[in-house]
Amino acid sequence: MPLSNGHIVAGDPNWWKQAVVYQIYPRSFADANGDGIGDLKGITSRIPYLKDLGVDAIWLSPFYPSPLKDGGYDVSDYRDVDPRIGTLEDFEEMTSACKDANIKVIIDIVPNHCSDEHPWFQDALNSLPGSKERGRFHFRDGLGPDKSQPPADWMATFGGPMWTPTGKNDGQFYLHMYDAAQPDLNWSNPEVREDFLKTFRFWGDRGVSGFRIDVATGNMKDLSDLTIPWDELKQRRANKSKPGNEHIDHPLFDRDENFELYRTWRQVFNEYDPPLTAVAEAFVSPSRKRHYASPEGLGQVFSFDILLSNFDIKNYQQSIERQIKEAKEDKSSTTWVFSNHDMIRHHTRYGLPDIDPSNLFTFRKGFLKFLETDGKEPAVDWPTGLRRGRAATLMILALPGSTYIYQGEELGLPEAAAIPEDQLQDPYFFRHGRSDKGRDGCRVPIPWTKTGVNFGFGSGKPAHLPQPQDFGEFSVEAELPDPSSTLNMYRKALSLRRDLQTKEEMSWFDHGLGNQVLAFERPNGWLTMINGGKTCVPLPKGEVLLSSADLDDEDLPGETTVWIKRS
Ligand code: GLC
Ligand code: CA
Repeated sequence: MPLSNGHIVAGDPNWWKQAVVYQIYPRSFADANGDGIGDLKGITSRIPYLKDLGVDAIWLSPFYPSPLKDGGYDVSDYRDVDPRIGTLEDFEEMTSACKDANIKVIIDIVPNHCSDEHPWFQDALNSLPGSKERGRFHFRDGLGPDKSQPPADWMATFGGPMWTPTGKNDGQFYLHMYDAAQPDLNWSNPEVREDFLKTFRFWGDRGVSGFRIDVATGNMKDLSDLTIPWDELKQRRANKSKPGNEHIDHPLFDRDENFELYRTWRQVFNEYDPPLTAVAEAFVSPSRKRHYASPEGLGQVFSFDILLSNFDIKNYQQSIERQIKEAKEDKSSTTWVFSNHDMIRHHTRYGLPDIDPSNLFTFRKGFLKFLETDGKEPAVDWPTGLRRGRAATLMILALPGSTYIYQGEELGLPEAAAIPEDQLQDPYFFRHGRSDKGRDGCRVPIPWTKTGVNFGFGSGKPAHLPQPQDFGEFSVEAELPDPSSTLNMYRKALSLRRDLQTKEEMSWFDHGLGNQVLAFERPNGWLTMINGGKTCVPLPKGEVLLSSADLDDEDLPGETTVWIKRS
Protein backbone atom coordinates (compact mmCIF):
# COMPACT_ATOMS: atom_id res chain seq x y z
CA MET A 1 0.00 0.00 0.00
CA PRO A 2 1.50 3.37 -0.90
CA LEU A 3 1.54 5.92 1.89
CA SER A 4 -1.27 8.34 1.32
CA ASN A 5 -1.72 11.97 2.34
CA GLY A 6 -5.36 12.23 1.29
CA HIS A 7 -5.12 13.38 -2.31
CA ILE A 8 -1.37 12.86 -2.48
CA VAL A 9 -0.03 9.35 -2.83
CA ALA A 10 3.65 8.68 -2.22
CA GLY A 11 5.47 8.04 -5.47
CA ASP A 12 2.94 10.04 -7.51
CA PRO A 13 4.95 12.13 -10.02
CA ASN A 14 2.23 14.80 -9.91
CA TRP A 15 2.18 15.19 -6.13
CA TRP A 16 3.19 18.86 -6.37
CA LYS A 17 0.23 19.90 -8.48
CA GLN A 18 -2.20 20.17 -5.55
CA ALA A 19 0.27 20.40 -2.69
CA VAL A 20 0.30 22.79 0.25
CA VAL A 21 3.91 23.87 0.59
CA TYR A 22 5.07 25.55 3.79
CA GLN A 23 7.99 27.94 3.39
CA ILE A 24 10.52 27.89 6.19
CA TYR A 25 13.05 30.67 6.62
CA PRO A 26 15.45 28.45 8.58
CA ARG A 27 17.18 31.13 10.65
CA SER A 28 13.84 32.26 12.03
CA PHE A 29 11.83 29.10 12.57
CA ALA A 30 13.11 27.28 15.67
CA ASP A 31 16.43 27.53 17.50
CA ALA A 32 17.32 24.19 19.12
CA ASN A 33 20.74 25.07 20.55
CA GLY A 34 19.91 28.53 21.89
CA ASP A 35 22.40 30.61 19.90
CA GLY A 36 19.64 32.94 18.65
CA ILE A 37 19.62 31.48 15.13
CA GLY A 38 17.08 28.95 13.90
CA ASP A 39 18.55 25.60 12.90
CA LEU A 40 17.83 22.24 11.27
CA LYS A 41 17.43 20.48 14.61
CA GLY A 42 14.85 23.12 15.46
CA ILE A 43 12.97 22.29 12.26
CA THR A 44 13.13 18.57 13.03
CA SER A 45 11.73 19.21 16.51
CA ARG A 46 8.74 20.99 14.94
CA ILE A 47 7.81 18.37 12.38
CA PRO A 48 4.92 17.15 14.57
CA TYR A 49 3.58 20.72 14.44
CA LEU A 50 3.84 20.74 10.63
CA LYS A 51 2.20 17.35 10.39
CA ASP A 52 -0.70 18.51 12.58
CA LEU A 53 -0.97 21.65 10.47
CA GLY A 54 -1.38 19.33 7.50
CA VAL A 55 1.19 20.54 4.98
CA ASP A 56 2.36 18.30 2.15
CA ALA A 57 5.84 19.74 1.77
CA ILE A 58 8.25 22.23 3.26
CA TRP A 59 10.37 24.59 1.20
CA LEU A 60 13.54 25.68 2.97
CA SER A 61 15.00 29.06 2.09
CA PRO A 62 18.82 28.80 1.88
CA PHE A 63 20.54 27.02 4.77
CA TYR A 64 23.95 26.77 3.09
CA PRO A 65 27.20 28.26 4.36
CA SER A 66 26.91 31.98 3.75
CA PRO A 67 28.33 35.25 5.02
CA LEU A 68 24.65 36.35 5.22
CA LYS A 69 24.96 39.49 3.17
CA ASP A 70 21.52 38.67 1.78
CA GLY A 71 19.83 36.41 4.30
CA GLY A 72 21.60 33.32 2.91
CA TYR A 73 20.83 34.08 -0.76
CA ASP A 74 24.58 34.55 -0.99
CA VAL A 75 25.82 30.97 -0.95
CA SER A 76 29.47 30.12 -0.38
CA ASP A 77 29.05 26.32 -0.65
CA TYR A 78 26.04 24.78 -2.40
CA ARG A 79 26.65 21.31 -1.06
CA ASP A 80 26.86 21.85 2.67
CA VAL A 81 24.95 23.29 5.63
CA ASP A 82 25.86 26.53 7.39
CA PRO A 83 27.53 25.38 10.64
CA ARG A 84 25.34 27.92 12.49
CA ILE A 85 22.32 26.05 11.16
CA GLY A 86 23.58 22.51 11.50
CA THR A 87 25.36 19.74 9.66
CA LEU A 88 24.68 17.38 6.78
CA GLU A 89 23.78 14.75 9.39
CA ASP A 90 21.18 17.12 10.81
CA PHE A 91 19.85 17.56 7.29
CA GLU A 92 19.53 13.81 6.85
CA GLU A 93 17.86 13.51 10.23
CA MET A 94 15.40 16.24 9.21
CA THR A 95 14.55 14.68 5.82
CA SER A 96 14.10 11.27 7.33
CA ALA A 97 11.76 12.67 10.01
CA CYS A 98 9.86 14.49 7.25
CA LYS A 99 9.62 11.26 5.30
CA ASP A 100 8.14 9.49 8.32
CA ALA A 101 5.59 12.28 8.58
CA ASN A 102 4.91 12.06 4.82
CA ILE A 103 6.15 15.63 4.28
CA LYS A 104 8.31 16.31 1.25
CA VAL A 105 11.32 18.62 1.28
CA ILE A 106 11.96 21.32 -1.32
CA ILE A 107 15.10 23.42 -1.12
CA ASP A 108 16.07 26.79 -2.54
CA ILE A 109 18.70 26.85 -5.29
CA VAL A 110 20.39 30.18 -6.02
CA PRO A 111 22.00 29.82 -9.46
CA ASN A 112 22.22 33.40 -10.70
CA HIS A 113 24.90 34.39 -8.21
CA CYS A 114 26.98 32.99 -5.39
CA SER A 115 28.65 34.67 -2.43
CA ASP A 116 31.83 36.65 -2.85
CA GLU A 117 33.25 34.21 -0.30
CA HIS A 118 32.59 31.22 -2.57
CA PRO A 119 36.04 29.67 -3.35
CA TRP A 120 35.42 30.21 -7.06
CA PHE A 121 35.06 33.94 -6.60
CA GLN A 122 38.05 34.15 -4.30
CA ASP A 123 40.10 32.23 -6.90
CA ALA A 124 38.81 34.58 -9.58
CA LEU A 125 39.89 37.67 -7.63
CA ASN A 126 43.32 36.15 -7.12
CA SER A 127 43.72 35.28 -10.80
CA LEU A 128 44.56 37.42 -13.79
CA PRO A 129 42.09 39.06 -16.14
CA GLY A 130 41.19 36.58 -18.88
CA SER A 131 41.98 33.56 -16.69
CA LYS A 132 39.86 30.41 -16.47
CA GLU A 133 39.00 31.40 -12.89
CA ARG A 134 37.58 34.75 -13.96
CA GLY A 135 35.70 33.00 -16.75
CA ARG A 136 33.23 31.56 -14.23
CA PHE A 137 31.94 35.09 -13.60
CA HIS A 138 31.42 38.23 -15.65
CA PHE A 139 34.56 40.34 -15.41
CA ARG A 140 35.09 43.27 -17.77
CA ASP A 141 37.62 46.07 -18.12
CA GLY A 142 36.61 49.44 -16.72
CA LEU A 143 36.28 52.50 -18.94
CA GLY A 144 38.47 55.61 -19.16
CA PRO A 145 42.23 56.03 -19.47
CA ASP A 146 42.86 54.39 -16.11
CA LYS A 147 39.93 51.95 -16.41
CA SER A 148 38.44 53.36 -13.24
CA GLN A 149 34.90 53.83 -14.58
CA PRO A 150 32.40 50.95 -14.54
CA PRO A 151 31.94 49.25 -17.94
CA ALA A 152 28.21 50.20 -17.92
CA ASP A 153 25.94 52.51 -15.94
CA TRP A 154 23.67 49.65 -14.87
CA MET A 155 22.13 49.62 -11.39
CA ALA A 156 21.82 46.66 -9.00
CA THR A 157 18.41 45.51 -7.75
CA PHE A 158 19.44 46.30 -4.20
CA GLY A 159 20.58 49.80 -5.22
CA GLY A 160 24.02 51.14 -6.22
CA PRO A 161 26.01 50.15 -9.30
CA MET A 162 25.78 46.68 -10.88
CA TRP A 163 29.52 46.64 -11.65
CA THR A 164 32.03 46.70 -8.79
CA PRO A 165 35.82 47.02 -9.12
CA THR A 166 37.84 43.94 -8.16
CA GLY A 167 39.96 46.01 -5.75
CA LYS A 168 43.05 44.37 -7.28
CA ASN A 169 44.29 47.35 -9.26
CA ASP A 170 43.76 45.48 -12.50
CA GLY A 171 41.20 47.80 -14.06
CA GLN A 172 38.50 45.12 -13.95
CA PHE A 173 34.95 45.12 -12.61
CA TYR A 174 32.54 42.23 -11.98
CA LEU A 175 28.80 42.06 -12.58
CA HIS A 176 26.26 41.56 -9.78
CA MET A 177 22.54 42.06 -10.30
CA TYR A 178 22.00 42.14 -6.52
CA ASP A 179 24.48 42.99 -3.76
CA ALA A 180 28.21 43.43 -4.48
CA ALA A 181 28.66 40.37 -2.24
CA GLN A 182 26.66 38.33 -4.79
CA PRO A 183 28.75 38.06 -7.99
CA ASP A 184 26.75 36.69 -10.96
CA LEU A 185 27.88 33.33 -12.31
CA ASN A 186 28.64 32.92 -16.01
CA TRP A 187 26.14 30.33 -17.19
CA SER A 188 27.75 30.09 -20.63
CA ASN A 189 30.63 28.38 -18.88
CA PRO A 190 30.31 24.55 -19.01
CA GLU A 191 32.04 24.20 -15.65
CA VAL A 192 29.32 26.28 -13.96
CA ARG A 193 26.64 24.17 -15.64
CA GLU A 194 28.25 20.90 -14.59
CA ASP A 195 28.69 22.04 -11.03
CA PHE A 196 25.00 22.79 -10.55
CA LEU A 197 24.03 19.40 -12.00
CA LYS A 198 26.28 17.95 -9.35
CA THR A 199 24.48 20.05 -6.72
CA PHE A 200 21.05 18.83 -7.88
CA ARG A 201 22.18 15.22 -7.65
CA PHE A 202 23.84 15.84 -4.30
CA TRP A 203 20.54 16.94 -2.75
CA GLY A 204 18.39 14.57 -4.83
CA ASP A 205 20.47 11.71 -3.41
CA ARG A 206 19.78 13.08 0.08
CA GLY A 207 16.06 12.71 -0.28
CA VAL A 208 15.06 16.17 -1.46
CA SER A 209 11.90 16.13 -3.64
CA GLY A 210 12.36 19.39 -5.51
CA PHE A 211 13.82 22.85 -5.83
CA ARG A 212 12.69 26.44 -5.73
CA ILE A 213 14.77 28.25 -8.34
CA ASP A 214 15.80 31.73 -7.26
CA VAL A 215 15.82 34.46 -9.97
CA ALA A 216 15.11 31.90 -12.68
CA THR A 217 14.97 34.63 -15.33
CA GLY A 218 18.52 35.77 -14.72
CA ASN A 219 21.05 33.04 -15.46
CA MET A 220 21.72 33.37 -19.18
CA LYS A 221 23.08 36.75 -20.25
CA ASP A 222 24.34 38.47 -23.37
CA LEU A 223 26.99 41.01 -22.42
CA SER A 224 28.16 41.78 -25.96
CA ASP A 225 26.87 45.37 -25.79
CA LEU A 226 27.55 47.24 -22.58
CA THR A 227 26.77 50.61 -24.13
CA ILE A 228 23.00 50.22 -23.71
CA PRO A 229 22.04 52.83 -21.08
CA TRP A 230 20.41 51.65 -17.87
CA ASP A 231 17.30 53.76 -18.46
CA GLU A 232 16.72 51.92 -21.68
CA LEU A 233 17.22 48.51 -20.03
CA LYS A 234 14.69 49.40 -17.36
CA GLN A 235 12.21 50.36 -20.03
CA ARG A 236 12.88 47.21 -22.02
CA ARG A 237 12.32 45.07 -18.97
CA ALA A 238 9.04 46.77 -18.13
CA ASN A 239 7.88 46.39 -21.74
CA LYS A 240 9.05 42.80 -22.12
CA SER A 241 6.94 41.76 -19.15
CA LYS A 242 3.80 42.83 -20.99
CA PRO A 243 1.94 40.37 -23.23
CA GLY A 244 2.82 40.72 -26.90
CA ASN A 245 6.26 42.16 -26.21
CA GLU A 246 8.18 38.96 -25.58
CA HIS A 247 10.44 39.52 -28.63
CA ILE A 248 12.13 42.48 -26.88
CA ASP A 249 15.76 41.62 -26.26
CA HIS A 250 17.24 42.19 -22.81
CA PRO A 251 20.85 41.29 -22.01
CA LEU A 252 20.12 40.23 -18.41
CA PHE A 253 16.48 39.29 -18.14
CA ASP A 254 14.30 36.45 -19.40
CA ARG A 255 16.45 35.31 -22.34
CA ASP A 256 15.46 32.31 -24.46
CA GLU A 257 18.76 30.58 -23.70
CA ASN A 258 17.43 29.91 -20.20
CA PHE A 259 14.95 27.42 -21.61
CA GLU A 260 17.66 25.32 -23.18
CA LEU A 261 19.49 25.40 -19.83
CA TYR A 262 16.41 24.22 -17.93
CA ARG A 263 15.95 21.32 -20.32
CA THR A 264 19.36 20.06 -19.23
CA TRP A 265 18.28 20.41 -15.58
CA ARG A 266 15.04 18.59 -16.26
CA GLN A 267 16.99 15.59 -17.57
CA VAL A 268 18.73 15.34 -14.20
CA PHE A 269 15.47 15.86 -12.29
CA ASN A 270 13.96 13.00 -14.29
CA GLU A 271 16.69 10.63 -13.17
CA TYR A 272 14.72 10.38 -9.92
CA ASP A 273 11.52 8.49 -9.24
CA PRO A 274 9.29 10.38 -8.83
CA PRO A 275 11.09 13.11 -10.80
CA LEU A 276 12.35 16.05 -8.79
CA THR A 277 10.10 19.07 -9.06
CA ALA A 278 11.04 22.69 -9.56
CA VAL A 279 9.23 25.96 -9.08
CA ALA A 280 10.70 29.06 -10.68
CA GLU A 281 10.78 32.55 -9.27
CA ALA A 282 10.03 34.38 -12.53
CA PHE A 283 8.16 37.65 -12.96
CA VAL A 284 7.30 37.37 -16.64
CA SER A 285 4.33 37.69 -18.98
CA PRO A 286 2.12 34.61 -19.48
CA SER A 287 3.56 33.78 -22.88
CA ARG A 288 7.04 33.66 -21.33
CA LYS A 289 5.95 31.89 -18.18
CA ARG A 290 4.89 28.97 -20.34
CA HIS A 291 8.51 28.16 -21.18
CA TYR A 292 9.67 28.11 -17.56
CA ALA A 293 6.61 26.10 -16.49
CA SER A 294 6.75 23.55 -19.30
CA PRO A 295 7.13 19.88 -18.32
CA GLU A 296 10.40 19.83 -20.29
CA GLY A 297 11.60 22.82 -18.27
CA LEU A 298 11.20 23.57 -14.60
CA GLY A 299 7.55 22.51 -14.40
CA GLN A 300 6.01 25.23 -12.25
CA VAL A 301 6.35 29.01 -11.90
CA PHE A 302 5.39 31.19 -8.99
CA SER A 303 2.59 33.49 -9.90
CA PHE A 304 2.53 36.64 -7.83
CA ASP A 305 -0.60 37.80 -9.57
CA ILE A 306 -2.92 37.38 -6.60
CA LEU A 307 -0.30 38.50 -4.10
CA LEU A 308 -0.13 41.73 -6.06
CA SER A 309 -3.78 42.51 -5.45
CA ASN A 310 -5.50 44.60 -2.87
CA PHE A 311 -8.50 43.04 -1.10
CA ASP A 312 -10.70 43.31 -4.16
CA ILE A 313 -13.22 40.73 -5.32
CA LYS A 314 -13.17 41.78 -8.96
CA ASN A 315 -9.39 41.57 -9.08
CA TYR A 316 -9.45 38.20 -7.38
CA GLN A 317 -11.87 36.86 -9.92
CA GLN A 318 -9.80 38.08 -12.86
CA SER A 319 -6.61 36.78 -11.31
CA ILE A 320 -8.10 33.34 -10.61
CA GLU A 321 -9.43 33.06 -14.15
CA ARG A 322 -6.12 34.12 -15.63
CA GLN A 323 -4.03 31.82 -13.54
CA ILE A 324 -6.13 28.72 -13.97
CA LYS A 325 -6.27 29.24 -17.73
CA GLU A 326 -2.52 29.75 -17.94
CA ALA A 327 -1.72 26.73 -15.79
CA LYS A 328 -3.90 24.52 -18.01
CA GLU A 329 -2.28 25.83 -21.17
CA ASP A 330 1.17 25.32 -19.66
CA LYS A 331 0.33 21.76 -18.50
CA SER A 332 1.41 22.96 -15.07
CA SER A 333 -0.52 23.90 -11.94
CA THR A 334 -1.21 27.21 -10.24
CA THR A 335 0.75 28.54 -7.28
CA TRP A 336 -1.40 30.53 -4.90
CA VAL A 337 0.65 32.68 -2.58
CA PHE A 338 0.04 35.77 -0.43
CA SER A 339 3.18 36.01 1.68
CA ASN A 340 6.84 35.10 1.47
CA HIS A 341 10.22 36.19 2.82
CA ASP A 342 10.38 39.15 0.42
CA MET A 343 6.98 40.73 1.03
CA ILE A 344 5.15 42.59 3.81
CA ARG A 345 3.00 39.96 5.55
CA HIS A 346 -0.48 39.88 4.04
CA HIS A 347 -2.42 40.24 7.29
CA THR A 348 -0.67 43.58 7.72
CA ARG A 349 -1.01 44.63 4.07
CA TYR A 350 -4.75 44.14 4.20
CA GLY A 351 -4.96 46.49 7.19
CA LEU A 352 -3.32 49.34 5.25
CA PRO A 353 -4.68 51.60 2.50
CA ASP A 354 -4.65 50.13 -1.03
CA ILE A 355 -1.51 50.49 -3.16
CA ASP A 356 -1.24 50.42 -6.95
CA PRO A 357 -0.33 46.78 -7.56
CA SER A 358 1.16 47.12 -11.04
CA ASN A 359 4.75 46.85 -9.85
CA LEU A 360 6.10 44.53 -7.16
CA PHE A 361 8.80 46.88 -5.92
CA THR A 362 6.60 49.94 -5.59
CA PHE A 363 3.84 47.79 -4.11
CA ARG A 364 6.13 46.65 -1.27
CA LYS A 365 7.63 50.09 -0.83
CA GLY A 366 4.18 51.70 -0.71
CA PHE A 367 3.15 49.62 2.28
CA LEU A 368 6.50 50.15 3.91
CA LYS A 369 5.95 53.91 3.78
CA PHE A 370 2.73 53.49 5.78
CA LEU A 371 4.64 51.46 8.34
CA GLU A 372 7.37 54.06 8.85
CA THR A 373 6.28 55.97 11.90
CA ASP A 374 9.47 57.05 13.67
CA GLY A 375 9.11 54.57 16.48
CA LYS A 376 5.38 55.16 16.98
CA GLU A 377 2.86 52.37 16.44
CA PRO A 378 1.99 52.26 12.74
CA ALA A 379 -1.61 53.01 11.79
CA VAL A 380 -2.57 49.50 10.72
CA ASP A 381 -6.25 48.65 10.96
CA TRP A 382 -5.32 45.36 12.51
CA PRO A 383 -8.76 43.71 12.92
CA THR A 384 -9.54 44.45 9.26
CA GLY A 385 -6.16 43.12 8.13
CA LEU A 386 -6.63 39.86 9.97
CA ARG A 387 -10.24 39.46 8.90
CA ARG A 388 -9.46 40.08 5.23
CA GLY A 389 -6.30 37.97 5.35
CA ARG A 390 -8.23 35.03 6.73
CA ALA A 391 -11.01 35.43 4.16
CA ALA A 392 -8.57 35.66 1.27
CA THR A 393 -6.59 32.66 2.50
CA LEU A 394 -9.67 30.48 2.83
CA MET A 395 -10.52 31.45 -0.74
CA ILE A 396 -7.18 30.38 -2.24
CA LEU A 397 -7.05 27.20 -0.18
CA ALA A 398 -10.23 26.06 -1.91
CA LEU A 399 -8.86 26.58 -5.40
CA PRO A 400 -7.31 23.93 -7.60
CA GLY A 401 -3.51 23.98 -7.69
CA SER A 402 -0.80 24.29 -5.10
CA THR A 403 -0.67 26.82 -2.28
CA TYR A 404 2.45 28.23 -0.69
CA ILE A 405 2.19 29.26 2.94
CA TYR A 406 4.89 31.37 4.54
CA GLN A 407 5.87 30.44 8.11
CA GLY A 408 3.84 32.38 10.65
CA GLU A 409 0.98 33.32 8.35
CA GLU A 410 -0.96 30.41 9.86
CA LEU A 411 -0.73 32.36 13.13
CA GLY A 412 -1.95 35.55 11.47
CA LEU A 413 1.44 37.02 12.31
CA PRO A 414 1.76 40.75 11.58
CA GLU A 415 4.77 42.39 9.95
CA ALA A 416 7.29 43.40 12.63
CA ALA A 417 7.37 47.01 11.52
CA ALA A 418 9.38 48.64 14.30
CA ILE A 419 12.75 46.83 14.20
CA PRO A 420 15.37 49.36 15.35
CA GLU A 421 17.62 50.40 12.48
CA ASP A 422 20.77 49.16 14.20
CA GLN A 423 19.35 45.64 14.12
CA LEU A 424 18.28 45.52 10.49
CA GLN A 425 20.07 42.99 8.26
CA ASP A 426 18.61 43.36 4.78
CA PRO A 427 21.05 44.67 2.11
CA TYR A 428 18.10 46.54 0.68
CA PHE A 429 18.29 48.87 3.66
CA PHE A 430 22.03 49.50 3.37
CA ARG A 431 22.20 49.88 -0.40
CA HIS A 432 19.26 52.27 -0.47
CA GLY A 433 20.96 54.76 1.82
CA ARG A 434 18.84 53.50 4.76
CA SER A 435 15.74 54.93 3.14
CA ASP A 436 13.98 51.57 2.72
CA LYS A 437 13.70 49.34 5.77
CA GLY A 438 13.80 46.26 3.58
CA ARG A 439 12.38 42.81 4.21
CA ASP A 440 13.41 41.99 7.78
CA GLY A 441 9.92 42.71 9.15
CA CYS A 442 8.57 39.45 7.73
CA ARG A 443 11.64 37.44 8.78
CA VAL A 444 11.36 37.82 12.54
CA PRO A 445 11.48 34.50 14.46
CA ILE A 446 8.24 32.63 15.08
CA PRO A 447 6.59 32.86 18.53
CA TRP A 448 5.92 29.36 19.85
CA THR A 449 4.98 30.24 23.45
CA LYS A 450 2.95 33.04 25.05
CA THR A 451 5.80 34.23 27.26
CA GLY A 452 9.40 33.35 28.04
CA VAL A 453 12.72 33.88 26.31
CA ASN A 454 12.22 34.59 22.59
CA PHE A 455 8.62 33.34 22.92
CA GLY A 456 9.85 29.77 22.68
CA PHE A 457 11.80 30.29 19.43
CA GLY A 458 14.94 29.38 21.36
CA SER A 459 15.76 29.50 25.02
CA GLY A 460 19.23 31.01 24.94
CA LYS A 461 20.61 34.16 23.30
CA PRO A 462 18.24 36.82 21.98
CA ALA A 463 16.66 36.00 18.63
CA HIS A 464 18.82 37.26 15.72
CA LEU A 465 16.01 39.69 14.78
CA PRO A 466 14.03 41.18 17.68
CA GLN A 467 10.44 40.03 18.17
CA PRO A 468 7.74 42.64 18.96
CA GLN A 469 6.51 42.62 22.55
CA ASP A 470 3.02 41.46 21.64
CA PHE A 471 4.26 38.44 19.65
CA GLY A 472 3.16 36.06 22.42
CA GLU A 473 -0.49 36.70 21.52
CA PHE A 474 0.17 35.13 18.13
CA SER A 475 2.09 32.17 19.49
CA VAL A 476 1.24 28.57 18.79
CA GLU A 477 0.66 28.11 22.51
CA ALA A 478 -1.88 30.95 22.61
CA GLU A 479 -3.71 29.90 19.46
CA LEU A 480 -3.90 26.12 19.78
CA PRO A 481 -6.58 26.02 22.49
CA ASP A 482 -8.68 28.75 20.86
CA PRO A 483 -11.10 27.18 18.34
CA SER A 484 -11.51 30.47 16.50
CA SER A 485 -7.78 31.18 16.15
CA THR A 486 -6.12 31.64 12.78
CA LEU A 487 -4.01 28.55 13.45
CA ASN A 488 -7.10 26.40 13.91
CA MET A 489 -8.65 27.84 10.78
CA TYR A 490 -5.59 26.79 8.77
CA ARG A 491 -5.48 23.35 10.41
CA LYS A 492 -9.11 22.67 9.71
CA ALA A 493 -8.87 24.02 6.16
CA LEU A 494 -5.85 21.88 5.30
CA SER A 495 -7.46 18.80 6.72
CA LEU A 496 -10.75 19.33 4.85
CA ARG A 497 -8.88 20.17 1.70
CA ARG A 498 -7.22 16.76 1.68
CA ASP A 499 -10.55 15.09 1.20
CA LEU A 500 -12.05 17.68 -1.08
CA GLN A 501 -9.14 18.43 -3.40
CA THR A 502 -9.56 15.32 -5.48
CA LYS A 503 -9.84 16.82 -8.95
CA GLU A 504 -8.55 19.96 -10.58
CA GLU A 505 -11.88 21.30 -11.82
CA MET A 506 -13.65 24.40 -10.59
CA SER A 507 -16.55 26.44 -11.91
CA TRP A 508 -18.01 29.80 -10.96
CA PHE A 509 -21.24 29.63 -9.00
CA ASP A 510 -24.06 31.90 -10.03
CA HIS A 511 -25.08 33.44 -6.70
CA GLY A 512 -27.09 36.45 -7.87
CA LEU A 513 -25.77 38.51 -4.95
CA GLY A 514 -24.03 41.27 -6.87
CA ASN A 515 -20.38 42.04 -7.37
CA GLN A 516 -19.30 42.11 -3.74
CA VAL A 517 -19.52 38.29 -3.74
CA LEU A 518 -17.45 35.64 -5.48
CA ALA A 519 -18.36 31.96 -5.33
CA PHE A 520 -17.07 28.83 -6.99
CA GLU A 521 -17.77 25.14 -6.90
CA ARG A 522 -15.40 22.24 -6.80
CA PRO A 523 -16.11 18.53 -7.23
CA ASN A 524 -17.83 16.81 -4.27
CA GLY A 525 -20.43 19.58 -3.94
CA TRP A 526 -17.88 21.86 -2.29
CA LEU A 527 -18.90 25.51 -2.55
CA THR A 528 -16.71 28.45 -1.53
CA MET A 529 -18.17 31.91 -1.18
CA ILE A 530 -16.28 35.09 -0.31
CA ASN A 531 -18.12 38.24 0.62
CA GLY A 532 -15.75 41.11 -0.15
CA GLY A 533 -18.18 43.86 0.89
CA LYS A 534 -18.91 45.28 4.32
CA THR A 535 -22.55 44.15 4.56
CA CYS A 536 -24.09 40.70 5.08
CA VAL A 537 -25.42 38.53 2.27
CA PRO A 538 -27.59 35.41 2.62
CA LEU A 539 -25.74 32.12 3.01
CA PRO A 540 -26.33 29.50 0.33
CA LYS A 541 -28.00 26.28 1.47
CA GLY A 542 -25.87 23.41 2.66
CA GLU A 543 -23.67 22.26 5.51
CA VAL A 544 -21.17 24.88 6.68
CA LEU A 545 -17.76 23.21 6.83
CA LEU A 546 -15.65 26.19 7.79
CA SER A 547 -15.71 29.97 7.79
CA SER A 548 -13.03 32.61 8.15
CA ALA A 549 -15.08 34.53 10.77
CA ASP A 550 -18.20 33.86 12.85
CA LEU A 551 -21.36 33.60 10.78
CA ASP A 552 -24.55 35.52 11.47
CA ASP A 553 -27.41 33.00 11.63
CA GLU A 554 -28.41 32.65 7.98
CA ASP A 555 -25.99 35.32 6.76
CA LEU A 556 -22.46 35.59 5.48
CA PRO A 557 -20.99 38.73 7.08
CA GLY A 558 -18.77 41.16 5.18
CA GLU A 559 -15.12 40.26 4.48
CA THR A 560 -15.73 36.62 5.25
CA THR A 561 -15.30 33.35 3.34
CA VAL A 562 -17.29 30.22 3.91
CA TRP A 563 -16.88 26.62 2.75
CA ILE A 564 -20.17 24.83 2.26
CA LYS A 565 -20.96 21.24 1.35
CA ARG A 566 -24.03 21.23 -0.88
CA SER A 567 -24.68 17.56 -1.28
C1 GLC B 1 15.12 36.31 -4.74
C2 GLC B 1 14.93 36.00 -3.28
C3 GLC B 1 15.37 37.17 -2.46
C4 GLC B 1 16.84 37.42 -2.75
C5 GLC B 1 17.09 37.60 -4.24
C6 GLC B 1 18.55 37.50 -4.56
O1 GLC B 1 14.31 37.34 -5.17
O2 GLC B 1 13.59 35.63 -3.04
O3 GLC B 1 15.18 36.97 -1.10
O4 GLC B 1 17.26 38.55 -2.06
O5 GLC B 1 16.46 36.60 -4.99
O6 GLC B 1 18.99 36.19 -4.40
CA1 CA C 1 20.59 27.70 16.71
